[in-house]
Amino acid sequence: MYPYLILKHAHMGFAYLSILLFAARGGLMLGGKQHILALKPVRILPHVIDTLLLGCAIALVVMGGWPILHSPWLIAKIAGLIAYIALGSVALKYGRSKPSRLIAFILALACVAYIVLVAKTKMIAPF
Ligand code: HEM
Repeated sequence: MYPYLILKHAHMGFAYLSILLFAARGGLMLGGKQHILALKPVRILPHVIDTLLLGCAIALVVMGGWPILHSPWLIAKIAGLIAYIALGSVALKYGRSKPSRLIAFILALACVAYIVLVAKTKMIAPF
């Protein structure tokens, strides 16, 4: 029980850190501060945090014995995560114009807010 709770809090910490970093990078991108985004630590840190976030997620699923295919909230989280990654890469990298990047950024934040709500309620429609 104890290691599971430690892992869960680590997962939550990495999740909030990941969201904070994404929001900050989006703000820098929209503010035209690409030179800061190009710095090596700024490029590498999100990958480190996201790897730890996912590593904890996988460990939680295994340790908690969560049956993924019978847990709609987990499937919703995985789908939300894929959408968050796709929209995030349009917002920070592949968007061709500023308006399209802004829209992708807002949708990515909405996705991650949905993931957190799903995590808290274990419901796929937590509204
Ligand atoms: C951006 C991605 C993610 C975010 C922001 C996120 C966020 C969270 C948060 C905030 C909690 C704590 C909920 C609470 O207060 O009880 C949590 C728990 C959890 N998450 Fe995630 N998560 C993410 C991805 C994933 C993925 C991909 C999986 C697995 C496929 C996963 C599996 C779990 C599990 C098993 C728990 C523990 C549930 C419990 O014991 O109550 N998470 N997540």
